[in-house]
Amino acid sequence: MDNSDETARLFPPPDRLRNESHVKSMDDYKEMYKRSVEDPEGFWGDIAKQFYWKRSNIYQMDGGCQNKHLLQCYRPAYKNGQGDKIAFFWEGNDPADHDSGNITYSQLKDKICKFANILKQSGLKKGDRVAIYMPMILELTVAMLACARLGIIHSIVFAGFSAESLADRILDGQCSAIVTADGVWRGHLLPKGHNVQQNGDYVDYPEEKPAQRPTRSLKVLDDGLELYHAQKINWTDGRDVWWHDVMGTASTDCEPEWMDAEDPLFMLYTSGSTGKPKGVLHTVGGYMLYSATTFKYAFDYQPDDIYWCTADVGWITGHTYVAYGPLNNGATSIIFEGTPFFPDAGRFWAIIEKYKVTKFYTAPTAIRALMRYGDEYVTKYDRSSLKVLATVGEPINPEAWLWYHNVVGNKQCAVVDTFWQTETVRGSLHEVEVLTPTKPGSATFPFFGIVPVIMSDEGVEITEPNVEGYLVFKQPWPGLMRTVYGDHERYETTYFKKFPGYYCTGDGAKRDEDGYIWVTGRIDDMVNVSGHLLSTAEIESALVEHPTVAEAAVVSHPHKIKGECTYCFVTLKEGKEFSDALVKELMDRVRKKIGPFAQPDFVQNAPGLPKTRSGKIMRRVLRKIAVGDKNVGDITTMADETVIDKLFQLRPPEA
Ligand code: WTA
Repeated sequence: MDNSDETARLFPPPDRLRNESHVKSMDDYKEMYKRSVEDPEGFWGDIAKQFYWKRSNIYQMDGGCQNKHLLQCYRPAYKNGQGDKIAFFWEGNDPADHDSGNITYSQLKDKICKFANILKQSGLKKGDRVAIYMPMILELTVAMLACARLGIIHSIVFAGFSAESLADRILDGQCSAIVTADGVWRGHLLPKGHNVQQNGDYVDYPEEKPAQRPTRSLKVLDDGLELYHAQKINWTDGRDVWWHDVMGTASTDCEPEWMDAEDPLFMLYTSGSTGKPKGVLHTVGGYMLYSATTFKYAFDYQPDDIYWCTADVGWITGHTYVAYGPLNNGATSIIFEGTPFFPDAGRFWAIIEKYKVTKFYTAPTAIRALMRYGDEYVTKYDRSSLKVLATVGEPINPEAWLWYHNVVGNKQCAVVDTFWQTETVRGSLHEVEVLTPTKPGSATFPFFGIVPVIMSDEGVEITEPNVEGYLVFKQPWPGLMRTVYGDHERYETTYFKKFPGYYCTGDGAKRDEDGYIWVTGRIDDMVNVSGHLLSTAEIESALVEHPTVAEAAVVSHPHKIKGECTYCFVTLKEGKEFSDALVKELMDRVRKKIGPFAQPDFVQNAPGLPKTRSGKIMRRVLRKIAVGDKNVGDITTMADETVIDKLFQLRPPEA
């Protein structure tokens, strides 16, 4: 398909959305934006007034991005006559499995209070860390918000992570409890409680610090007692409790713990380029304000919307746009436990028809995967309720953008590309989308409070159009992470050292002659696989743990559906044989170490790696070899050029 005409086109906002939009014109946006960056205290202070504050509603922001003297804010929707409104429709993996799912705001509040009381009775208190390792069930949001209610820092670990990854995160965060489920449905039940158990067995808890050991695990029974028996979860009396046993009798009253605006709300791990995941820490005031505001404007939220973000709550997108953002706006949204392919590739659109979804938020990788099945899976469902179609997680290629716009949206919807990060909570581009004329593939303009700059490697701001540089942000905003849990120095080095005075995203970008920003992808050693950031160092370290592997180098490789995938070069120890069986073992090792979603696509034998004379692996050369491009660039600094030919010969035929 040749879309060259269309990709160059500017898509005007759909007329039918103009009237209801919160921001009435691009000029209004510019004016609000200007105030947000010139007078952030006034701008965010006004927004803060819409929240409930115990003592003060003044929003202060000093140079260090501190919001001081404020106590916990929240918008108690159930107190505003909204108690009977549906907070979530829950949809299971099996379309027939939705009966117990819907929950109103007051029911949700009651459950949150009950679970908060259970946490309290277990001895947990403000400042403690609790790990949550659960599938997309309502209890996940109940557990996270119960923590928030008590000032307990939740550390949610995506249920697709392996037992080892879970263990690393529990230890790093020194969590004192785990909330988990016995399994997750994917046509059949995948055991998850097992991973927690395995984690208990696996982790070598430091003897001298017994306080680090998880003391109790509150297990959530997902699918009935029979399954519990089927899964044979090991049980420790006095430590473990079943959700359904304790929830029944707990009280529905629980006064929230009043928090300072700068107190921590949660931590969430993201990949780090050194291989060790970073516990990104967000705070109560800034995160609440920012997630609520971005939700309101980016999706142009209206009270009668049925909103659906397909992200798992285990990632930042789910934290912000399944849980906090929608709930702080009193929205009705959907929690979906399943996958877009079950029972067939029409599932997303079937759900949209069923609930009359108005605003839809998903990842480009899902769009690319679904495009392949043809338009009929989409067009047989009624999508006339849709108004906004948004994406997040990776750059969206124009081809996918156009399919989303033309086929899914029937050319009637605003298509919104939102760029942001775990660290930034929408340190984001492309906002007030309903009114922004869009260009397929561009993240357009900044959200309120964000001052994006394209920076040269030398630290000079690039002003001329179409020159690529580092995407950095010039001034603080409320949703910026405050620290890396337990390692503030790492926070400063990772994000602020390269360009002092700027927050460095780690992504590349350019600005076109009309001022539109185009994000080009990571420029550090991070790979974005299906919208999940993976660190090449973390995969390398999983590979070299295998007894036959001497050295490994992992690079990103283009992939039609996933956007990027990982391509691994492994150098074996003397006398060891490379074989298909070994490739499989290595792939399994990465799955086990990190999680199934991290499994490499290619593993190639590398008797030698291209290195500089000082011994540094030349990854740019490896990236060329991975795609079979003989034009490997400047190799004058390479220690031994002969390895290149050899590596080309050993490329797996399917690469
Ligand atoms: C990438 C996900 C281009 C980017 C919310 C970023 C994107 C990383 C986009 C953060 C987008 C996310 N266009 N790239 N719209 N959205 N990214 O922390 O590389 O899981 O730095 O947060 O995803 O991933 P994270």
